[in-house]
Order: sequence, then C-alpha cells, then structure tokens
Amino acid sequence: MTLRVDPASSDDVVAETEAPSSVPHVDAAPESQAVAWRHRHLLDVDGLSAADIDLVMRTTDAMREVLTRPIPRVPALRGSQVTILFYEASTRTRVSFEVAAKNLSADVVNIAAASSSVSKGESLVDTVRTVEALGARMLVIRHPMSGAPYLAAEVFGGSVLNGGDGWHAHPTQALLDLYTMRERLPEGSLAGRKVVILGDLLHSRVARSNIWTLTAAGADLWLCGPATLVRGFEAWAGRGAAAGRRFHVTTSVNEALRDADVVMALRIQRERMASGLLPSLREYAARYGLTRERLALARPGALVMHPGPMNEGVEIAADVAAGSQSVITDQVTNGVAVRMALLYLLAGTHPGGAGAA
Ligand code: CP
Repeated sequence: MTLRVDPASSDDVVAETEAPSSVPHVDAAPESQAVAWRHRHLLDVDGLSAADIDLVMRTTDAMREVLTRPIPRVPALRGSQVTILFYEASTRTRVSFEVAAKNLSADVVNIAAASSSVSKGESLVDTVRTVEALGARMLVIRHPMSGAPYLAAEVFGGSVLNGGDGWHAHPTQALLDLYTMRERLPEGSLAGRKVVILGDLLHSRVARSNIWTLTAAGADLWLCGPATLVRGFEAWAGRGAAAGRRFHVTTSVNEALRDADVVMALRIQRERMASGLLPSLREYAARYGLTRERLALARPGALVMHPGPMNEGVEIAADVAAGSQSVITDQVTNGVAVRMALLYLLAGTHPGGAGAA
C-alpha cells in the first residue's frame, strides 16, 4: 500500500528562508526579552508557526553555548519552581527536563504518580491545583491519557509543558529531533530530504508530533510499518497534501528506505498493543527491523535515529543503533538544550513578562 502525495505551494509549509526572529539573551531574565513568543503552554507542535519553531531552534543554539561553559548554568529561572509530574515511566524526558530546569537555576520538584496521592484516588485536576498551591510555576506532565496536559493547562496558573500524552503528542521530542536533523544534515536543511519513520506508528505520540514539524520543515516524509500499525495515517497524508506537505504512507520497507536521508525507528509499544496487531515480535523484526542490510538501501551516511527507549533486536539491530550513522545519543544530549530553550521562552510569557499575551 502506498499513498503518495505531491507538494503544492502553500503558506502552511515553512519557508526556511523566512526572516529569523530575534534570539533572547539567555543570560538575562526571560521576562525582560522582547522576543516574538506568545505561547504560555507547550501542549503540541501543531500550534507553532514557522517563526516559533525557528525561535526555538535559535534559542537552543544559545543554550548549547551555555552548556559549553565551565559552569553550564544561567540564572533565568532563579526562584521559580518547575514541577515534573509523570504518570508514566520515563528516563530521557524526565531527566533532561530536570537537568534543563536546574541549568536555568530553577527549583525542581519531581513527582512520580505511583508514589503520590494519585495512588489514593486523587484526580488530575486536584493534583495540579495542589502542586500550584505548593509553588509550581511551570508544570511538566506526562500522562497515559491523550489530552491530559490540556486539562491541566485549563486549571494551572503557570505554564504546562507536555512531556508525552498517550498516543497523541510529544512536542519536545519532535523539536529535539528536528534540531538534531538540522544539526547533522548538509546545510542544516530538511527541504526535500527523505525522512522515514519506521515502526509502530499507530501508538506513537513521537510520530504524530514529528509529522507536523518535519513536513513543515519541507521534508519528504515517509511513514512505514505493517498495515495494522499505519492505519489512519493515509487520511492525514491526504490532508497534508492539501496543505502542500510531502507525506507518504507505505507498508513496503524497501520503498521507504530507498535513498532515505534519515531513518527513525520507533519502538514496538507492547504496553499499548492490542492482540491481533502483530503475529509476533520475531516476525516483525524479520520484516521491518532496521538491520544493516536494510540501512544499505538508504543514502550513504543516512542518519539513524530512535527516540528511545529501544528494543534492540526488534525494531533496530544493536549494531545499527551503535553504528557510525547513529545520532541517537545526540538526540538525548540535544534534548537538554531544547528543553532549556522551551522553559526559557515559556517563562517569558508569565504575567509582567515582555511576551505576556
Ligand atoms: N523518548 C522518550 O520519551 O523517552 P523516555 O520515555 O525515556 O522519556
């Protein structure tokens, strides 16, 4: 099955030549900066304009510079409390948000739902009101239910950042993936580059957010997996075509990987998998696993990515994950700078800030 849509001109597609927005001086207080950022929350990437994404990328560059300093820290969030409220397991997102907030001199509070009053039946709304009453100014939330961060944003007085909700969205992952591709691809541009997302699309919030940012950046995006794990995306691809985005869906791994510039493997999410979607993990690995032989179909030097956590030997072979084309650890490292940038920009919209709406 292949659905191919061709690009058409549209204002919806990012013009990479757009005039860059001014970049904040990240050593100064976020509320003192006259940057063109108006979003109090980061719930997904679908509401971000090309200029917004450009500002996140440039602010991330500034944060990367901070991270090269002997003391990689700025006072931007001194006196502010960042609360990290996770209802699902996480290593990369949780830890990198914590490191990012500390690098901005914030006070960080970590709450694992399993060891909180959530286990006694407390609602999400009550928990959010409680953490605000305890001083939280920024709330990073991960939740197994799609939409939970939107509910949190309705009752929280500060900023909510979505650290992943159900199958729906993982905006900071999409932005760090975009940053990593721009950093590694020639001329820092995704325009016309063939980017493949391979694996369990059905359950992937990473893919759903990446679809927005990658097609907006002008990539030629291919989604590939077994028919049971790509269903529903054909309709989205059709809508993408109407908006001038390049977006294909295929079950053929050879068609997807041929001449690819970037291959992002996705984990088979066993914890969300209904029975009957896959015959077995062994069969999936045999037919869709990213092996050295399959990677040879891509362009020489094509980037290998994975948002993690990986199931090596299932969706990606261990030697490919650790190979010379892999930028998987770069994704993790860039996650800190991207999250520093986002915390900084959102903090600037708080009451009294220059960017307050
Ligand atoms: N990529 C990602 O969200 O990883 P974690 O589940 O470890 O946070």
